[in-house]
Amino acid sequence: MSEAAPHRWAVLYPELGTGPVSTEPCVSPEFYARERDIVFKKTWLMVARDEELPNAGDYKVKRLDVANTSVILLRGKDGTVRGFHNVCSHRGNTVVTETGDETFGSSKAAILSCRFHGWVYDANGSLIQVPEEERFYSCFNKAENGLAAVRTEVWEGFVFVNLDAEGSQSLIDYLGEYGEHMGGFPYSELSECYSYWTDLACNWKVSHDAFAEAYHVHTIHAGSFPNTFSSGLANVRLFGPHRTAAVCLSPSAELRPVQTVADKIAGGYAGAHHTGSTLPPSVNPDGMADFSFELSVIFPNLLLHISEGLWFTHQFWPLAHNRTRWEGKMYYRPPTTNSERWALQCAQLIARNAWLEDTATMEATQAALQSGAKTELNLQDEEILVRHGYHALEQFMQS
Ligand code: FES
Ligand SMILES: [Fe+2]
Repeated sequence: MSEAAPHRWAVLYPELGTGPVSTEPCVSPEFYARERDIVFKKTWLMVARDEELPNAGDYKVKRLDVANTSVILLRGKDGTVRGFHNVCSHRGNTVVTETGDETFGSSKAAILSCRFHGWVYDANGSLIQVPEEERFYSCFNKAENGLAAVRTEVWEGFVFVNLDAEGSQSLIDYLGEYGEHMGGFPYSELSECYSYWTDLACNWKVSHDAFAEAYHVHTIHAGSFPNTFSSGLANVRLFGPHRTAAVCLSPSAELRPVQTVADKIAGGYAGAHHTGSTLPPSVNPDGMADFSFELSVIFPNLLLHISEGLWFTHQFWPLAHNRTRWEGKMYYRPPTTNSERWALQCAQLIARNAWLEDTATMEATQAALQSGAKTELNLQDEEILVRHGYHALEQFMQS
């Protein structure tokens, strides 16, 4: 990336302003209450990958504390994944017994049976069996007592739900130009997933912000990525509430010897120079030789990154105004030999270390913000994605 004008993004996106940003959205329980109702119960949220439900009858239950519900995603015999609230129409038990934040299972017949009294639902959510049905009264109508459906749509193998029963905007319309920009990447082919999660004592935006700029790479990542990445961004583009930018390598970027060997075997290092043509045409359109990865955000809570031969996500699930479940996932092409498996494990270990470095700042940031000693954040030009995050959130909450 060439030497850049210090205020180039502010010139390009003057609507975002240049002033300090209030800390209120990160520390206020009242703001969080509104955010839950206006944002998380109204927008499209990514809750699964297609590959997690490969066969008819496979299901996943995702707990969504932010919206006080859990969603069942069930693949029908027609191949379609449908979403339902995990609430039985009889006396409200969970239809699928949950064993944690995510619960997986499979039903050969593609049906779900509530274990409390045995009511059975099919893959369309219809109630198909009620033990001792004759004992219910004439006012009970089986046809009206299916599972409560949740709008569910799939983009590029990402399964999204929208909890707004009144809403009508399709997922593809919601993604808009972003969907075109990041579509067409071989997400499903790169299906070898390394997954991490933890609960953090911070607001979800504190966590998002720490991953949405490269200003911190020389300090926070001095251990895992010394002199690897450029601290500025390239090709920043804003698509309504969504955003994207390229992160580039620094001129002195160099892998360690063992990393060079591993990268030759299986790729997998975002810090390496890779050539190839798997990126969508609008990502790195000028073919910058120092391009490392595209850092993009699907509003509100998903960071999606793509690079040659790998992709990764960070997702932030609010648990309270100052608590967040962070999920980080790295994806590579499935290894076919032991040496490829070794090489990928080398690559993901460095990513894991970098994520440990990233997450290590978040709880301290939250605690400091909650002191109230400072009420504003001061953002520089290369923190444009952070600035846009607050701007988009404000716009969304006012709309
Ligand atoms: S609560 Fe589900 S069958 Fe009774
Ligand atoms: Fe980082």
